[in-house]
Amino acid sequence: MKTAAHKMSQFKDSIFGVISQLARENQAVNLGQGFPDFDGAQWLKDIVNQKVQEGHGQYAPFMGSLHLREEISSYYKRFYKLVYDPQQEITVTVGATEALYSTLTALLDRDDEVIVLEPFYDSYVASIQLSGAKAVPVTMHAPDFTVDVGELEKAVTSKTKILIINNPHNPTGKVWVREELQQIAHFAQKHDLLVISDEVYEFLLFDGATHIPMATLDGMKERTLTISSAGKTFGLTGWKIGWVCAPEHLSRAVRLVHQYVSFSVSTPMQEAVAEGLKRLEGYVPGFQAQYKEKRDYFYEGMKKLGFTFAIPKGTYFMMVPIANKTTKRDVDYAMELIKNKKVATVPPSSFYLKSKEGEGYLRFCFAKKQETLESALSNLERL
Ligand SMILES: Cc1ncc(COP(=O)(O)O)c(C=O)c1O
Repeated sequence: MKTAAHKMSQFKDSIFGVISQLARENQAVNLGQGFPDFDGAQWLKDIVNQKVQEGHGQYAPFMGSLHLREEISSYYKRFYKLVYDPQQEITVTVGATEALYSTLTALLDRDDEVIVLEPFYDSYVASIQLSGAKAVPVTMHAPDFTVDVGELEKAVTSKTKILIINNPHNPTGKVWVREELQQIAHFAQKHDLLVISDEVYEFLLFDGATHIPMATLDGMKERTLTISSAGKTFGLTGWKIGWVCAPEHLSRAVRLVHQYVSFSVSTPMQEAVAEGLKRLEGYVPGFQAQYKEKRDYFYEGMKKLGFTFAIPKGTYFMMVPIANKTTKRDVDYAMELIKNKKVATVPPSSFYLKSKEGEGYLRFCFAKKQETLESALSNLERL
């Protein structure tokens, strides 16, 4: 009997599903899942109710509702002085995940190479492989998760077409500073690479850290495709509204893929997100304060338990070194914590293709209710 395509043999169930299943079986507190265990902004939920009642029950234009594209354009201008034409340069997608898939599919031919900075968000490599292209890892080295330009230079070949960067960075919580971004930008220009900049955590910043979109660096706008997600910004990951901003000729290619992958995205949700983006200036400080409180609480708790690491400046993740706690590698220690301590985390070695550095860490997600964080800390201490 005919079976699935040969290319599928390179894929397995994502680590997130595996960990969540184990967490349920062991009644463990789940700090593995990378999203909030509480709902996002109530005012935005009220707006979506209104939008549903107003109509908006039919397909939106395939590239996204004009209202939303205009509001995306407006916030890039207000926050970053970046100018994107809503008509030609912005495409609304089913979350950042579809944005990444449609973008990589639109840009890659078979056997092209893509430099991915590891640890990476797992959909990058899967989307690259589905295009028949090759992911070439370059490691962000602990403890600061810096990239060595010499290693970038070694990774580049005549087939290299794209570099993917994630800023602020999942799983490390790193917020890239200007000098580092400039190094990447210089490298991309030197080798004429396109850059996909995944900026879904652009508003999850702490301690005065600033987000610098890659496209704002000199000479980078024309070679950068910027991806973001309302799900992250409004703490409503289930809404799945994302977008890609890119020069017209690249956006056109992304749109051609997008129209056959999802065609168009939920209309009332797009209308609500457009209203949300109008109010970003009022909303973001409270959003950051809410997550800062969680970060500080959890970090202090972890410190008291003897985990030592630098406090992350962005995202809702902590990449916590485990070497002073165990001789086990990440996967085995994560299993031990689920079974014996009733706390689920993500072993980050699955976010690496080359380096073994991930085996010395676990990723904790602190986007959780206070009681969830308290239970996790007390389980880690007590059991
Ligand atoms: C770095 C990164 N990129 C993209 C995504 C996907 O975002 P979305 O839920 O909008 O598809 C995530 C979600 O966890 C992420 O962490």
